[in-house]
Amino acid sequence: MTTAGPTMSSETGEALVEGVTPDRMPRHIAIIMDGNGRWAAERGFPREFGHRNGASAVRAALTECARLGVEVLTLYSFSSENWRRPAREIGALMSLCVDYCEGEREHLKRQNIRVRVIGDREGLPDEVREAVVHLERATAGCTGLTLVLALNYGSRNEIARAARRIAEDVCAGRLAIECVDESAIDERLDTAGLPDPDLLIRTGGELRLSNYLLWQVGYAEMHVTETFWPDFGVAELHAAIRDFAGRRRRFGGLDGGDPDGR
Ligand code: IPE
Ligand code: IPE
Ligand code: MG
Repeated sequence: MTTAGPTMSSETGEALVEGVTPDRMPRHIAIIMDGNGRWAAERGFPREFGHRNGASAVRAALTECARLGVEVLTLYSFSSENWRRPAREIGALMSLCVDYCEGEREHLKRQNIRVRVIGDREGLPDEVREAVVHLERATAGCTGLTLVLALNYGSRNEIARAARRIAEDVCAGRLAIECVDESAIDERLDTAGLPDPDLLIRTGGELRLSNYLLWQVGYAEMHVTETFWPDFGVAELHAAIRDFAGRRRRFGGLDGGDPDGR
């Protein structure tokens, strides 16, 4: 079984992404997979066709992230606001979720990929919830990359649910008010235990977060590409990683990390 971590080819000693040294690789990549509808419209097809091709594009990005030793890949698959779409499109997206969970299960296990789903599961149709639970259970023992699927996910909803849990814990005497800090919130988010995203990629060209991981991307580097999601492949992923590797992450400090700023 493979484990997370390889960032150099063991045979040649070369970087797995040209020009990127291992210390510059992101641990966690989050993607807003946007542009499926426009991709289909450009070809004269209904939006559902774009979604199906979008689902097919997941495999290449995921396999490459696993090969590169990326620890976590989080994919925005359906937002809590996407219920505003026509019933037919929502139905197609829900069926696609079930098909993905069932159709990819064995392949994901073979790749040693563990799946975790974030979002408000209570609002998902029964068959989607069941498929998701089955996939999570089937891959629970995998130790390679963690694939996080954001399904019926909205960041504000996630934060509100975390706040409710904090209130419950305080009322029940399990948590002192003085202990309500950033880690208390972190621990109650759906992403508890995962590192924050280092790199946030958005396909389809829009310059917004669309209620995605608002808390977690506080210091993520952003990469936006005009490419629509169904066309996003390994070359585009490498370009995003190269872009990330060239950034200076200061986290509010100064270049060089000298606390005196010298
Ligand atoms: C992203 O593609 C997929 C989902 C939101 C489920 P869109 O469906 O938003 O495609 P565009 O942005 O309309 O092209
Ligand atoms: C974000 O894309 C949600 C997903 C990719 C699942 P949207 O297409 O829903 O975002 P907006 O509506 O353009 O902000
Ligand atoms: Mg969109």
